[in-house]
Amino acid sequence: MTAPASPVRAPDQPASYATPPTSPARGLVATYMGITAIVLALLMVFGLLMRASQAGFITVPPNRFYQLLTAHGIGMVAIAGLGGAAVMWYFLSRYVALSHAILLANLIFFLAGVVLVLGSIFIGGFAAGWTFLFPLPAHSLGVWGTGAAACYLIGVLLVGVGFLLLYLDTGRAILRTYGSLPNALGWPQAFRGSTAPAPPEDAAWNAAVASSSASVRSVLVARNPSPTTAA
Ligand code: HEM
Repeated sequence: MTAPASPVRAPDQPASYATPPTSPARGLVATYMGITAIVLALLMVFGLLMRASQAGFITVPPNRFYQLLTAHGIGMVAIAGLGGAAVMWYFLSRYVALSHAILLANLIFFLAGVVLVLGSIFIGGFAAGWTFLFPLPAHSLGVWGTGAAACYLIGVLLVGVGFLLLYLDTGRAILRTYGSLPNALGWPQAFRGSTAPAPPEDAAWNAAVASSSASVRSVLVARNPSPTTAA
């Protein structure tokens, strides 16, 4: 017996938006996903090392434990953002004209930031936790130097700037297609009885707004990690 057809149906899309990403962008999205898979596996190993140490199976010196904790925390948060951005970009690019250059720029900012963050942790000894809450980065009691803390903050700043560019471009492309925020959110369909097909980009638009503000905030915190901005 076949299941009854679902009453929920994706709205018809304008033909001009229904094109899948071209091959260079597909390659970039695949690169994003490949990097996400590799980094995720590495960070899971860091997590398992911490758990094994907590269980007494292995001995990880305290300084090294906090380095692993910092790398695991900031890495997991950042890589979730990278993988999520790739999936969103892949599907959203079928409906609006996103910039391939910005997608590439975000990856470059991300990788540059990761090099600085990993260098600050495993070479400079920075181990203040992924939240780097003030005053810990500035007062390490000699465990790491100012240079390592600065490297970490600049690394996080670069990652934040990359995501900011990506989500500003997302907002730009959605606005260009739909003309206004209410149109992009489908408010005419929701509140004004419009029967035009609802835009499928609601989630991406929300991601663009939320992630842009989060990126701006991360930029501000990295520039001035004082109690008032870091709280
Ligand atoms: C195999 C999978 C994972 C393992 C074994 C693991 C293990 C751990 C351990 C042992 C800690 C330290 C907890 C403590 O304070 O005692 C930790 C912290 C943390 N984990 Fe994971 N984890 C895993 C996956 C994830 C994922 C998928 C995310 C996020 C997407 C994540 C995000 C975090 C964060 C944000 C912290 C706090 C870091 C900090 O305090 O600076 N973890 N994890």
